[in-house]
Amino acid sequence: MTSPNDNLVKTYKSRQNQVMLVRDSQSGKLSIVKIFKDEASWRTEQQYAAYLRQQNLSVPEITRIEPLTLYMRLIQGKTACELIEACEAAGQAVPEDKLQAIVRLLRDIYTTQLFRDNHLILGDNNWRNFVFSDLDHHVYRIDFESVRTGDITDEAGSLIAFLLTYEPVLTNIKCQAARLLFSLLCQQLCLKKSILAASVSNQLKVIDERRGTQHHHHAVKQLDLTAYGCR
Ligand SMILES: Nc1ncnc2c1ncn2[C@@H]1O[C@H](COP(=O)(O)OP(=O)(O)O)[C@@H](O)[C@H]1O
Ligand SMILES: [Mg+2]
Repeated sequence: MTSPNDNLVKTYKSRQNQVMLVRDSQSGKLSIVKIFKDEASWRTEQQYAAYLRQQNLSVPEITRIEPLTLYMRLIQGKTACELIEACEAAGQAVPEDKLQAIVRLLRDIYTTQLFRDNHLILGDNNWRNFVFSDLDHHVYRIDFESVRTGDITDEAGSLIAFLLTYEPVLTNIKCQAARLLFSLLCQQLCLKKSILAASVSNQLKVIDERRGTQHHHHAVKQLDLTAYGCR
């Protein structure tokens, strides 16, 4: 459901939901409108987005709530996926401070009381769920409908596995960023290297199975995960 004043500016790619950028014809203000496929996802996103904002973390503000629909502040900028694409187009390494910012935000989310006490994870750490704001230069996390109980190590592993397997897969720039990310995640989330290595390896297998690809073997070699016993 959207308001009669909403003028559609853009539709985003979404597998499950309808996500749009709209401009209010009266105020001229831009907003993101997300229409959910089910009530449980709508409630989950509301609950965790509101909680994390209360904790002063970089999460877009929800400005209006309607049945199955959330209006949110637009974070104007590039998703982390677009950042990687831009780095590759320019032949430049992914800046360390951007990777640091993602890892610190994840650490801050996982160490909130609600997440820690209930062993919660975000449930979907794909790189389109991080947006670097052009305005305040912070990284924002969006998309909380998949929050669930789970293992932080699995989620850290999936962040690296996703990075390596975006097209074009396993480029030098992606492998270099993945190595850096590996050590940042170990430091900031206090993970043992061998355990994170096993998780990256598992998550690569999960992605291969889901997509019918065969990147696991090459990726494990590129990241030197064999040093931790991964094959
Ligand atoms: N508040 C926001 N600011 C900027 N872009 C957003 C915002 N919310 C969503 N998007 C864009 O829409 C895409 C899909 O939204 P998301 O909430 O991740 O839904 P999905 O469940 O489809 O993954 C994101 O990857 C991002 O590009
Ligand atoms: Mg998403």
